[in-house]
Amino acid sequence: MIDLFENENTGGREILGMEAFVLKGFALPIANELLAKIAFIQTLSPFRHMTTPGGHTMSVGLTNCGQLGWTSDRRGYKYSALDPATGNPWPVMPNEFLELAKSAASEAGFVNFVPDACLINKYIPGTKLSLHQDKDEQDLRAPIVSVSLGIPAVFQFGGFERGASTIKVPLFHGDVVVWGGVDRLRFHGILPLKPNSHSILGEQRINLTFRKASPFNSNNFNAF
Ligand code: SIN
Ligand code: FE2
Repeated sequence: MIDLFENENTGGREILGMEAFVLKGFALPIANELLAKIAFIQTLSPFRHMTTPGGHTMSVGLTNCGQLGWTSDRRGYKYSALDPATGNPWPVMPNEFLELAKSAASEAGFVNFVPDACLINKYIPGTKLSLHQDKDEQDLRAPIVSVSLGIPAVFQFGGFERGASTIKVPLFHGDVVVWGGVDRLRFHGILPLKPNSHSILGEQRINLTFRKASPFNSNNFNAF
């Protein structure tokens, strides 16, 4: 049986800013394929809890796929070509991921988005992600494309300073948030997840964040 209430307002979009949108249910048609790929990726590069430069253990479990993976340790945040846990390159970014990121970006007005990094975050009830800016990328012309799977979460979307007020947006299985351009450096985060259960993922939320981490160069001229 299909649970209609796991995905609110499927179709349509919510406007978060001049160049920031929630595309409701955009990833739903391929959600099962995404989950199968994630299951495979985590056999090669398992989820782990990284340490922040401040010495805290992140409550989000994370892994990556693509040419570059986002990592954090005592020395800071960075993108690396190798998974520090295995010493191997991150798993290849599946084509379905690339195509989804590209079509969501274009739906939001960012043509020819070619992500080289996909951060995969895993949340359970109680997990949160504090307000932050995505600014470890070298080419800020490319947008961020963020795909929600599993139990709902509340996304906070704020201003250009941590203290600015935020709007709070519920995100459901299949929703895709895209922000870029004038909104690219807005602070954002995820409030602690409430206990919940999803028909496929159980008590979990998985988020895919697509980014272009490498600098602009003539090899990826088509990116913008
Ligand atoms: C992030 O900001 O990296 C992830 C946001 C989310 O989990 O929706
Ligand atoms: Fe982020």
